[in-house]
This record gives sequence, structure tokens and C-alpha cells, in this order.
Amino acid sequence: MKKKIFVILSLLVIGFVSIKLYKYISRSTEQYSDLQVIAYHYNGEGYVGSETCMECHRDIYETHLKTAHFNTSSFTNLDNIHGSFKEGENTVSLMDADIKMVEIDGKPFQHAQIKYGDRQAYDWSMDITIGSGLKGQSYLSNQPDGLYQLQASYFVPSDKWINSPNYTDRINPLRPVNDQCLKCHVTFAKSSSTSPNSNKYDISKIVLGVDCEKCHGPAEKHVVFQRKNKGIHNDTTLIGLSSLSRQQRLDLCASCHSGLRSNQIQNPFKFLPGDTLSKFSKNYNSLRPSTTLDVHGNQFGLLTSSKCFTESDQMDCMTCHDPHRNQRGQKAYFNSKCIGCHQQNTTTCSISTTEMAQMGNDCIQCHMPVVPSKNMQVQLTKLDNTTPVGVRTHNIAIYPEEVAKE
Ligand code: HEC
Ligand code: HEC
Ligand code: HEC
Ligand code: HEC
Ligand code: HEC
Ligand code: HEC
Ligand code: HEC
Repeated sequence: MKKKIFVILSLLVIGFVSIKLYKYISRSTEQYSDLQVIAYHYNGEGYVGSETCMECHRDIYETHLKTAHFNTSSFTNLDNIHGSFKEGENTVSLMDADIKMVEIDGKPFQHAQIKYGDRQAYDWSMDITIGSGLKGQSYLSNQPDGLYQLQASYFVPSDKWINSPNYTDRINPLRPVNDQCLKCHVTFAKSSSTSPNSNKYDISKIVLGVDCEKCHGPAEKHVVFQRKNKGIHNDTTLIGLSSLSRQQRLDLCASCHSGLRSNQIQNPFKFLPGDTLSKFSKNYNSLRPSTTLDVHGNQFGLLTSSKCFTESDQMDCMTCHDPHRNQRGQKAYFNSKCIGCHQQNTTTCSISTTEMAQMGNDCIQCHMPVVPSKNMQVQLTKLDNTTPVGVRTHNIAIYPEEVAKE
């Protein structure tokens, strides 16, 4: 009798334990199978996307969603296009064609109507939006034979649809989009051909936006490790950015903020934080004096030619920028960075306090003025939309004309 009870009890205990164990195992596998790898880097490491980071880095995740970086590319839908679809506001008129933004079955398209001859028409889907919409947006179309940039773009300063920069005033063959174009606006893309100029991609495997893993490297291993070992320190699954040299930290930002670097030596998507940028790409005109540098972004070239940089040994981009926040317009924050250095061991401003006050004590207004982009202006004068894009120069210097302006 006692034996029977003992056996039954044991069976019950074993059953209970196995159910618990089963539940525990299935839950943890469930948790791990949540982890979706969007794409694999050339080194085999997986990109998992910033949503995965929310679980443990909620603060950074939430501020990051508001940055121009995160929003610089996304799958296009009617909501994230900043330009108008209203009749009369939705057209770019060229010499030989009209391009209209239209909605077909709830999806955005560019509809090109040729004005002459057999009056052919084309419909191109708008699939990927490039640009956070601060200055403008451009659209990519995923066609059967590859990825292309569409001819109509949206330009913020004039709030109008425009002919995309570098397109002529006629209907142009669509411009293929390859790694060279994508490298600064997405985190990772791998074309399906080994040819360096290929424009063929599985767009569901493009890691969009300048996301966490652009600056921190693919993080699949980190997430798996941290989920297993809740909160363990001395985690070496990621490249520690704070332990990198000044040049390595600069190179990370310079990979997108030092001009087009069209002299490509290696695939730009092989570049990882900690790598030496000059082994990947160079600017053809790197010997040109830096004052003539222009955007599409060369904050690196401009900053490194200013005295604040050359005469201090710590300054890098993070001296003034928190890469996890949208800090646009935070004058007081940026000024505090200038004063931080300029009240201690370096010289302070020699201008009169009256003049200083007239400019609201805003160091940046006088020493990092907004200048019109030469590139973008030339492109736009042909199109009646002459409003140039203003860019903040990173050549911190004395600009006497800025004082005279007031
Ligand atoms: C399950 C929790 C968890 C998830 C998910 C997670 N992390 Fe972490 N992460 C941590 C912990 C804990 C640390 C601190 C480790 C240490 O101090 O060594 C950390 C540290 C970091 C660091 C600092 C590393 C260093 O050496 O300075 C970075 C960068 C980072 N995580 C990025 C990410 C990114 C990007 C993602 C999403 C793709 C992510 N983490 C997802 C828990 C997590
Ligand atoms: C534009 C590049 C960039 C992006 C995008 C970025 N980071 Fe960072 N992150 C950095 C840099 C640079 C540092 C080191 C800061 C320093 O040493 O001054 C850093 C530091 C960190 C740290 C450790 C220090 C801290 O502040 O806690 C964590 C954790 C982290 N990042 C997580 C993330 C997560 C999660 C995301 C996305 C939601 C993200 N980062 C996106 C560049 C970036
Ligand atoms: C993969 C390319 C890439 C990398 C790497 C990168 N950036 Fe950017 N950054 C961009 C692009 C593209 C934009 C413009 C986004 C837009 O408006 O669509 C931008 C915009 C910015 C802006 C302007 C934000 C605003 O609100 O106007 C700052 C500041 C900036 N980056 C700083 C940095 C710093 C600092 C680093 C290094 C830690 C860095 N970036 C690394 C591509 C990059
Ligand atoms: C070398 C890096 C780089 C390459 C390559 C590049 N861009 Fe950019 N792009 C930037 C940076 C940086 C900005 C932000 C401008 C600035 O410096 O303030 C930007 C801004 C933009 C903007 C305006 C975004 C906004 O709202 O602020 C659009 C649109 C854009 N780029 C489209 C493209 C397209 C289309 C291509 C490919 C043909 C391309 N870019 C190639 C770096 C690059
Ligand atoms: C990391 C410290 C540091 C920071 C931050 C810094 N500077 Fe400087 N700056 C220096 C040093 C060092 C010099 C050269 C020696 C001197 O003039 O004291 C310098 C020089 C200058 C000069 C003289 C330039 C010339 O060509 O003669 C101006 C103007 C200036 N800084 C303005 C600024 C402004 C404005 C800011 C904020 C946007 C700023 N600095 C941020 C360290 C810094
Ligand atoms: C001495 C401070 C300082 C340093 C160092 C610095 N920046 Fe900036 N940056 C600024 C200020 C100030 C602005 C203007 C912010 C605004 O408009 O609200 C700015 C704006 C920008 C913008 C937006 C430009 C525009 O006109 O839209 C980009 C991109 C940028 N910085 C990138 C970088 C990169 C990359 C580095 C490192 C190579 C860097 N910055 C280093 C102070 C700095
Ligand atoms: C009204 C425009 C204006 C404002 C605002 C302004 N500066 Fe200046 N700054 C100048 C001019 C002009 C000079 C050159 C004066 C001269 O050489 O007589 C100068 C000179 C400097 C110098 C070099 C001094 C030297 O003798 O070499 C530094 C450093 C400097 N400013 C830093 C700053 C800082 C930091 C701020 C913000 C607290 C600031 N400036 C605000 C216009 C301005």
C-alpha cells in the first residue's frame, strides 16, 4: 500500500516537474525564435533591428526613433510621403512629359505621361523613401530588373515636387541605385550579384534607416547572450565604441559625413565600427582645400580643418552630438559645449559684449554659420525652385561678415 502511494506520488512529482520544465524550455525557445534576423553581414553576423533593443535599452530606443538617422529611409507608404497628392500640387512638368503622384490600390505611384508622339505612359511604384524629410525626400522603385531612383523628388524649402537632382528637364531613363547610393541612407544592404555596380536587391532584407547596428555593428549575438545571462557585464559581443581611438570614432561618422568618397576600394557595407575608413574609400579630390568642400555632407572635412579640432586632442563628433538624440535647434546645449572649452584653458571670444548680446550670445550663429549648399543650388536653378538648401558649416572659424549682417 505504502509502496503504491509512493509510486503514485513520485509519478505526480515527475509529471509536474516535466510540465514545468517543458513550459520553461518552450517559453525560452519561443523567446529566442522571436529574434528575427533581417540580414547577415558579410562576416556572418546577424542584424536584428532596433525594435529588439527596446527590451533592455528603452530610453535610447525611444529617443532614437525621433532622429533623422532612424528616419532617413523607410518603406514608402502614403503616410510617410511629405509631398502633396492633391490635383494641381502633385505634378512635375518636364519638357516632354508630366510626372504625377497618384494612388493606385492604396499604394503610391509616379505616373509619367509623355506629351508627344505615341503618348506612352508609365507607372512606377514608390517603394523606399530616402530622406527624413528635413530637407527633402527621394523615392526608390523596386522594378523586376533592379532598384531605381525615381525622377520626381520632394523638396522641403519650396514645399514642392521637383525633378530629382542631376536629372535633365526631360523624361530620363531611371537611375539604377547601387551600394554607392544606399551606403549612407541604410544600415545594411547586400546586392544579389557580386558585381560592384549591381542594383539587384531583395528589399525585404535591407536594414532600413541609420539604425543602432550601423554604429554598433550587427547585434544578434549580443541579444542572444544578454537574454541568456540577464544583465551580465564584461559583455564582449559588441565593439566597444568608447574604447576606440579618436580616429576610429571619427571614421565611423566620416563613413557617411565626409563627402561622397566615390573612390571605392572595398564594398562599403563591409565597413564596421573600428575599421580604418581609408582602406575602404577615398574622395577623388581629397587634396582640394577644405573651404570648398560642400555637402552632400562633409562635416568631417570641415571640422578637422578648424582650429578647435587641430589644437585640441580630444574633440570628435560626440563632443557636441549625442548620437541617440534629435538635437536639432538646441542652441543652449550646443553653446554650452563651446563655452565648456572656451572658458577654461583656451581663448574666449574677443568681440564686444554688446555685439555678442545682439546675436543672443549664440556662438554658433557667428562661428558656424548656415551657408547655402553649392551643390543643391546649381541643381535647382534650372527648375525655378531656386531656394537653396542651407547647411551648417563645421569649419568653426571667424566669419566677420556674420557680425556685419546684424
Ligand atoms: C536582453 C537585454 C538586452 C538586449 C535585448 C540588448 N541589450 Fe545591449 N546591453 C545589455 C546589457 C545588460 C548591457 C551592458 C553590458 C556590459 O556592461 O558589459 C548592454 C550593453 C550594450 C552596449 C554597450 C556595449 C559597450 O561595450 O559599450 C551597446 C552598444 C548595446 N548594448 C547595444 C544594443 C543593441 C544595438 C541592441 C539591439 C539590437 C541591444 N543592445 C539589445 C542588454 C541588452
Ligand atoms: C549614429 C551612430 C549611433 C547610433 C545610430 C546608435 N548609437 Fe549607441 N552609441 C554610439 C556611440 C558613438 C556611442 C559611444 C558614446 C561615447 O563613447 O561617447 C554609443 C553608446 C551606446 C551605449 C553605451 C553607452 C550608453 O549611452 O548607455 C549603448 C547601450 C548604446 N549606444 C545603444 C544604442 C541603441 C540601443 C541604439 C539604437 C536604438 C543606438 N545605440 C544607436 C553611436 C550610435
Ligand atoms: C550610414 C551613414 C551614416 C553614419 C555612419 C552616420 N550618419 Fe549622421 N547622418 C546620415 C544621414 C543620411 C543623415 C541625414 C538624414 C536625413 O535627414 O535624412 C545624417 C544626419 C546627421 C545629423 C543631423 C541630424 C539632424 O537632426 O539634422 C547629425 C548631427 C549626424 N548625422 C551626426 C552623426 C554622427 C555624430 C555620427 C557618428 C557617430 C553619424 N552621424 C554617423 C548618415 C550617417
Ligand atoms: C556619402 C554619403 C551619402 C550618399 C552616398 C548619399 N547621401 Fe543623401 N545624404 C547624406 C547626408 C549626410 C545627408 C544630410 C545632409 C547634410 O549633410 O546635412 C543626406 C541628405 C539626403 C536627402 C535629404 C534628406 C533630408 O530630409 O534631410 C535626400 C533626399 C538624399 N540625401 C538622397 C540621396 C540619394 C537618393 C542618394 C543616392 C543616389 C544619396 N542621398 C546618397 C549622405 C549621403
Ligand atoms: C574640445 C574643446 C573645444 C570645443 C568644444 C570648442 N573649441 Fe573652439 N577652439 C579650441 C581650441 C583649442 C582652439 C585654438 C586655440 C584657442 O583659440 O584657444 C579653438 C579655437 C576657436 C576659435 C578661433 C578660430 C580661428 O580660426 O582663429 C573660434 C572662433 C572658436 N574656437 C569657436 C568655438 C565655438 C563657436 C565652439 C562651439 C561650437 C567651439 N569653439 C568649441 C577648443 C574647442
Ligand atoms: C563643436 C561642436 C560640434 C562638433 C564637434 C560637431 N558638430 Fe555637427 N553640428 C554642430 C552644431 C552646433 C550643429 C547645428 C545644430 C542645429 O542646427 O540645431 C551641427 C549640425 C550637424 C549636422 C546637420 C547639418 C545641417 O546643416 O543640417 C550634421 C550632419 C553634423 N552636425 C554632423 C557632425 C559630424 C559628422 C561631426 C564629426 C565629424 C560633427 N557634426 C561634429 C556642432 C558640432
Ligand atoms: C556676434 C558674433 C559673435 C558671437 C555671438 C560670438 N563670437 Fe566669437 N568672435 C566673433 C568675431 C568677429 C571674432 C574675431 C574678433 C577679432 O578678431 O577682433 C571672434 C573671436 C572669437 C575667438 C577667437 C579669439 C582670439 O582672440 O583668437 C573665440 C575663441 C571665440 N570668438 C569664441 C566664441 C564663443 C565661445 C562664443 C559663444 C559664447 C562666441 N565666440 C560668440 C564673433 C562672435
